[in-house]
Amino acid sequence: MIKFVKLSKVYSNHFTALKDINLTISQNEFVYLVGQSGAGKSTLLSMVYRACKPSSGDIFIENYSLKNMPDSEIPFLRRNIGVIFQDYKLLPKRTVYENIAFALRVMHFSRSRIHRQVGQVLELVGLEHKFNCMPWELSGGEKQRICIARAIVNNPAILLADEPTGNLDPDTSWEIMMLLTKINTRNTTVVVATHNDKIVDALPKRVVAIEKGAIVRDQQLGRYDT
Ligand SMILES: Nc1ncnc2c1ncn2[C@@H]1O[C@H](COP(=O)(O)OP(=O)(O)OP(=O)(O)O)[C@@H](O)[C@H]1O
Ligand SMILES: [Mg+2]
Repeated sequence: MIKFVKLSKVYSNHFTALKDINLTISQNEFVYLVGQSGAGKSTLLSMVYRACKPSSGDIFIENYSLKNMPDSEIPFLRRNIGVIFQDYKLLPKRTVYENIAFALRVMHFSRSRIHRQVGQVLELVGLEHKFNCMPWELSGGEKQRICIARAIVNNPAILLADEPTGNLDPDTSWEIMMLLTKINTRNTTVVVATHNDKIVDALPKRVVAIEKGAIVRDQQLGRYDT
């Protein structure tokens, strides 16, 4: 569960990016965040994994309040939250295997456990055969699959995707969304910020629309536009 309570964000230049956001996303939900460029979607997602702190209000992950969470707890928070981005953010000089294993190594898991978990997620995204490739040897869709594998390798309760199909062609975008749907059915809450109107309309889920930092629509099985 992710719960935003009276959440506002004013950036240091005094720009109000979010104002008075109240929103509850239940465990296992699949939610699209839509809205024009600059509406506040990325800002909202970044608060969940504490890349950015609210100016007022609070966020609860399950019943845990992030408001007074010390920065020293950020690594523990992020173990429960997988994040993927439009521009992948893979480590360019590491293999596919290393990119995914990295998150587990910092948790000091055993070699055999890392090997098993990386193998399982690579199989889930259908790229077992690419484990030894470098990121530059992959297509855009393959890179995004690897990012998804990396995001879910520790079995997080929440997966946040910030425009995951922004750089992909329609067919590949659809495959990526199918993969996110599959992950959602494995007990993972999925929140996708997107401009992809065709996918939102073809794969209807809850739609939360943001306009100038405020929620203007919250609709089950909604469409991209009203
Ligand atoms: N670090 C920052 N300092 C000041 N203003 C910022 C900062 N980051 C974002 N903003 C502003 O906050 C607003 C919301 O930005 P945000 O990135 O959340 O929008 P978005 O909905 O994700 O847009 P897009 O669809 O283009 O990704 C924008 O007007 C942006 O200029
Ligand atoms: Mg954004």
